Amino acid sequence: MKIVLLKDRPDLLNSAKEVVLKYSKYDYITEDNLNYLLLDNDDVIIGEIDYSLPLGSVDLLYIYIKEEYRGRGLSKYLLNESIEDLQKKDVKEIFLEVSKINIIALNLYNKMGFQKISERKNYYEGNIDAIIMKKTIG
Ligand SMILES: CC(C)(COP(=O)(O)OP(=O)(O)OC[C@H]1O[C@@H](n2cnc3c(N)ncnc32)[C@H](O)[C@@H]1OP(=O)(O)O)[C@@H](O)C(=O)NCCC(=O)NCCS
Repeated sequence: MKIVLLKDRPDLLNSAKEVVLKYSKYDYITEDNLNYLLLDNDDVIIGEIDYSLPLGSVDLLYIYIKEEYRGRGLSKYLLNESIEDLQKKDVKEIFLEVSKINIIALNLYNKMGFQKISERKNYYEGNIDAIIMKKTIG
């Protein structure tokens, strides 16, 4: 299976936009963030990563890999690629918040060198705490 970043298939920009608009109200794919989407052999979007606008530091808003593609290192790949891209944009720090019970995501972020800096008590529905994490990249 060949996994590519959308930046390597700019010809698919418009069809990717159409797909994203089916599940998101934001048309967030721009010429600037093409490396934030993963496509499979059939040019289907199988993963994404989403950041707030780069202004020195950014918030990682979401990372997602389709269920049947999980456990193959794709989120690490996507995160590494986007970190490289953010470094080029002179971003120095990435912040994120993650539910205390999302063990897989916590493992991923720990593995990728994010460090816990604080907690927000009862932040999510069901009184679940949020963990705030940071990674310095510049
Ligand atoms: C979190 C998510 C993006 C991980 O994607 P993935 O491509 O399956 O992750 P990877 O295969 O790259 O694994 C990355 C790390 O996550 C952890 N991990 C992955 N699967 C795991 C599992 N089943 N159990 C425990 N830890 C796991 C491991 O630390 C792994 O690194 P390692 O293999 O070197 O030990 C994916 O599970 C997902 O889309 N979840 C739903 C959305 C979500 O919760 N997003 C995060 C909150 S915003």
